[in-house]
Amino acid sequence: MNVLLIGSGGREHAIARTLTKSARLSRLYAAPGNPGMAEVAELVRLDAADHDAIARFCAEKNIELVVVGPEQPLVEGLADSLRARGVAVFGPSKAAARLEGSKGFVKDLCRANAIPTADYERFDDETKALAYLREKGAPIVVKADGLAAGKGVVVAETLAEAETAVRAMFSGAFGKSGAEVVIEEKLEGEEASFFVLCDGTRALPFASAQDHKRAGDGDTGPNTGGMGAYSPAPCFTPETEARVMREIVAPTLRAMREMGAPFQGVLFVGLMLTSRGPQLIEFNVRFGDPETQVMLPRLEDDLLELMFACATGALPERAIRFSPKAALTVVLAAQGYPGTPLTGAEINGLARAGEIAGVTVTHAGTRREGDKLLAAGGRVLNVTALGDSVREAQALAYRGVDAIDWPEGFCRRDIGWRAIEREA
Ligand code: AMP
Ligand code: GLY
Repeated sequence: MNVLLIGSGGREHAIARTLTKSARLSRLYAAPGNPGMAEVAELVRLDAADHDAIARFCAEKNIELVVVGPEQPLVEGLADSLRARGVAVFGPSKAAARLEGSKGFVKDLCRANAIPTADYERFDDETKALAYLREKGAPIVVKADGLAAGKGVVVAETLAEAETAVRAMFSGAFGKSGAEVVIEEKLEGEEASFFVLCDGTRALPFASAQDHKRAGDGDTGPNTGGMGAYSPAPCFTPETEARVMREIVAPTLRAMREMGAPFQGVLFVGLMLTSRGPQLIEFNVRFGDPETQVMLPRLEDDLLELMFACATGALPERAIRFSPKAALTVVLAAQGYPGTPLTGAEINGLARAGEIAGVTVTHAGTRREGDKLLAAGGRVLNVTALGDSVREAQALAYRGVDAIDWPEGFCRRDIGWRAIEREA
């Protein structure tokens, strides 16, 4: 089978590497890809926003499956455009991608189907939003309705902070994404991410993971896209999984089907494990980055077959197989991230890191210039390791990190601390 993978980050490099293990893969193309992906796929210049160009490429190269990595093309309807031309797509339609594209849509769906989530109200008017804030008091959470590249959420500890966030959103800080605002109760507990494969009708649990969102050690400093992750999430027990499938995933998928927008692809369930049980924080309609980099090394099934089954309504009636080992990944970021990153510096030592048994280096934001590898983004590399425990995986991953020579980069030194404390 010929496959086209859309995306260019660490998540997509991990997906590409895993797809090449499938006996069913003939040719793998990636658009636009990155230097790591170039080792396992043929890179093509295609703009994810140009649906016609992608459809033409699929016809020309006999593409039987398109795998969409990031959310933006899904929210913009790429899957619909391709399905209309008979191409199978791993990823939801525009209507089903509202599960990530509109926070207000998700909150209303939860309310209508008794899905456990933070209590909330939606506002398209600043005065009413401010009045609601004063009635509820702090702490409280303010969210821009639409996609905001992970920056549209403010967990406000004081009323003043919440008011500032509401004013910023209504004054256009997030463009159209902030024209509507969701204000919700702050949930207390441990966060975990859970991934479910869906084929429009059936849903199969994939894996759990936990990431570290803050830039600094001890989970301090500014929020980022994720500085590291591990899988499985030790707090996510089989009982919790069963409860999340029953109370959150099943009613969501049923509601989507009933409104004529069945969900196909991977549903990323962001959870807070509270004293009242698991509560939904948010859905994403794609794999996580860097969560994918720790789930896929544990997968013992054929990823291509699973993705094709999601795209064609044919998920198997059995559990997906995973290694019981722990995987942990450390993100190497360019100095300045999550602000303006320092790009263009040379990186060496990748081969040395990759030679350590059990260590894999993934490209997230790199660029080749001649035979040099340069930093080209905020999150630049991921160093992933497998171990019999999170502690073992962590030690191995940092051995890999230390083999890489890139003085202009930085990473956290404590990825996995919570899971390691639990193991001890
Ligand atoms: P989201 O983009 O909705 O995932 O929000 C980003 C982050 O904000 C989450 O990963 C949580 O850490 C935090 N967050 C969002 N909503 C809540 C909430 N209701 N209570 C506590 N923390 C939240
Ligand atoms: N690591 C969080 C995300 O992919 O949204």
